[in-house]
Amino acid sequence: MLNNIKVNTLNFIFKDLIENMKEIEIIQPDDWHVHFRDKEILQAVVPETTRHFGRSIVMPNLLPPILSAKAAIEYKKTIQKAIPKDNDFTPLMTIYLTENTDKNKLKEAYLDGHVFAVKLYPAGATTNSASGVKNIEKIMPVLETMATIGMPLLIHGEVTDKNIDIFDREKVFIEQKLDFICREIPQLRITLEHITTREATVYVKEGNQNLVASITPHHLAMNRNDIFSGGIRPHNFCLPILKKETHRKSLVEVAISGNSKFFLGTDTAPHLKNDKESECGCAGVFNATYCMAILAQIFDDNDALHILEKFTSINGAKHYKQHLNKKKIKMIKKNSPIKFNSILSINDKDIVIFKPNFPVYWEVEH
Ligand code: DOR
Ligand code: ZN
Repeated sequence: MLNNIKVNTLNFIFKDLIENMKEIEIIQPDDWHVHFRDKEILQAVVPETTRHFGRSIVMPNLLPPILSAKAAIEYKKTIQKAIPKDNDFTPLMTIYLTENTDKNKLKEAYLDGHVFAVKLYPAGATTNSASGVKNIEKIMPVLETMATIGMPLLIHGEVTDKNIDIFDREKVFIEQKLDFICREIPQLRITLEHITTREATVYVKEGNQNLVASITPHHLAMNRNDIFSGGIRPHNFCLPILKKETHRKSLVEVAISGNSKFFLGTDTAPHLKNDKESECGCAGVFNATYCMAILAQIFDDNDALHILEKFTSINGAKHYKQHLNKKKIKMIKKNSPIKFNSILSINDKDIVIFKPNFPVYWEVEH
């Protein structure tokens, strides 16, 4: 009885301590999914990511896409030149999978250490995905090779059939495509990227140990109403599209659970303001700048600050068999909400920076 009272008191004090925490220090985070683009956009956005993150997996959906080790090496050099001085950020390069990808060349690129992973875009699923995969059967030999050498496969998990409702495309992809791949090649190390549905959380939780998922800050922060609040909000349009509140809650639930199968992939996806505010606006949310602040707020609001580090800095590194970053970052909770810059300027053009519709009190100390 007395012991119970002691334990309860301690729990109470511990919870209270965490809830009132004004400062946390965590292992430097990694971003396991980023779009750096090229040319002047690349120059502007790379420092937004390298400011906080230690490593990122860089998406290959440029025009033309990164199809070979040679192209990945060139692209990596361009990125490295844009990293601010005295910053030891590491870009991890990917190859864009097509039905013509040569499995032997891929194996060589991986074993040489030039390429970290392969990205599977279903053809037509999203930005610059036209050269992607139409028929999964055709890539099975490449996937078999990848499983043998331990090379990770990153999947944009949406079907492209226009008869399938846009809000159901992830769920149907899991049922029709992902399940097939997982059953045929259970040894393949798969990341189902930027998951958006309860179904995805359940499938990944229950799936084999090689199947994991990444989650973006914007899918944790918003639901589909945010695309239409008071009018159309093109800056909240991304793919997979935001889903209902029940799905958002499921994503938050797995993120704050600490389950090692779920980790951060920001899918920070810069597009020029004019290209989003257009008759046919591009999909993508540019969230690199305040990502860590927003995540700290979401975890704090859910009494899960003590799990943040697992989600941003541990689970992904473990899945990708990488060491944990040696550095730490400190985050501070202010007494009033932080003010967000709303624009990243590129010469005379703008990129709109993601800002959630709730107050954020946390910021990364610099
Ligand atoms: O919203 C998105 N934007 N989703 C993607 O899958 C691609 C990305 C982009 O490249 O713009
Ligand atoms: Zn992406």
